Amino acid sequence: MPRLAAGRLDALPVDRPVLLVVDGRRIALVRRGDTVHALAENCPHAGGPLSEGTVADGAVTCPYHGWVWDLTTGACRAPARDARVPVYPVVVEGGEVLIELP
Ligand code: FES
Repeated sequence: MPRLAAGRLDALPVDRPVLLVVDGRRIALVRRGDTVHALAENCPHAGGPLSEGTVADGAVTCPYHGWVWDLTTGACRAPARDARVPVYPVVVEGGEVLIELP
């Protein structure tokens, strides 16, 4: 599985999403402590920028219409919909953040 280098862990703000654009991919990165989550940038509802959302309780809230996405599973927590945003595994090695892409 290819790995995408996403920079240093200590360069990421905590609980504030950051947009990463690499090779045409747009990924929202969210650091929570020493853990980093990677989600597709565009909200499945209507394309809102999840990197501009707010983080709380292990989820990010889309700034457009307030849908709430679980950072770990990508499942939509609210409203109750059978929707999911793609999430990608992330590992931190030696302080470097690496995203595992399909
Ligand atoms: S575009 Fe994200 S909630 Fe509507």
